[in-house]
Amino acid sequence: MTSTLENSGQTAAPARVATKRHYLMCRPDHFTVAYRINPWMDPAIPTDTSLAVTQWNTLYETYLSLGHTVELIDQIPGLPDMVYTANGGFIIDNVAYGALFTHPERQPEGPAFMEWFREHGYEVAEPQNTNEGEGDFLLVGDVILAGTGFRSASNSHEELGEIYGREVVTLTLVDPRFYHLDTAISVLDPLTGDTSANIAYLPSAFDTASRLELERRFPDAIEVSEEDGAILGLNSISDGYNVVIANRAVGFEKQLRERGYNPIKVDLSELLLGGGGVKCCTLELR
Ligand code: ARG
Repeated sequence: MTSTLENSGQTAAPARVATKRHYLMCRPDHFTVAYRINPWMDPAIPTDTSLAVTQWNTLYETYLSLGHTVELIDQIPGLPDMVYTANGGFIIDNVAYGALFTHPERQPEGPAFMEWFREHGYEVAEPQNTNEGEGDFLLVGDVILAGTGFRSASNSHEELGEIYGREVVTLTLVDPRFYHLDTAISVLDPLTGDTSANIAYLPSAFDTASRLELERRFPDAIEVSEEDGAILGLNSISDGYNVVIANRAVGFEKQLRERGYNPIKVDLSELLLGGGGVKCCTLELR
């Protein structure tokens, strides 16, 4: 497939390199929307658990076909949001910083994920401050981008910096539809010196200071449209080349192709009823 660059004056899109990943997922055997803790959720709208499982399975099979390793945690009945494993913790170099959820409905998930991490050989850092794991913390190169405003408290960012000894960049979310950082930023590349389009983001989801910070750090980032943002199109998973995205994110798909990535579309419409997409259903084990 041929591609053209919108930015004239630039040379061809750089060659992207896929690397094998290790993920934790949770089959949504008990998926439903029983409460409302984000604007996407409406308990009055019926959910179809078997459709959620079918759609989730497509995502799972997609990762396997790309050569990634996927671990599974069993969903606990009564914890319908457990399918969004990205919120279960944050892991670098085998150290898992546990989640301490904002809303009581999800709080029992924290210990359940920490137990899984321990059983699977990860060193667990018990959280002292409210945080929702990789939903709000994104590793880009050596730096951790950390969201606050709706869920994770800013003192969790300090805790994160102490645990991992890395720079943590606080970004403030301002639009309730984009309540986790992974709904407003997608990390596309592990940052290997080439800074072009390492991330994609929706500028309007952030306060002014955070927007300026993102512009400064990522001058060539993809800025997605409001339309693509509004269907959680940024909630995607990249292995450096293949980017698994929502099937309705057509503008984002085009932008990714122009930058040398290979977008792969999946339909997770049922899981969107809970306010989550591709990324939310995926926790990276590093
Ligand atoms: N219903 C869940 C919540 O509001 C959705 C979580 C989505 N996860 C994510 N990583 N953005 O907590």
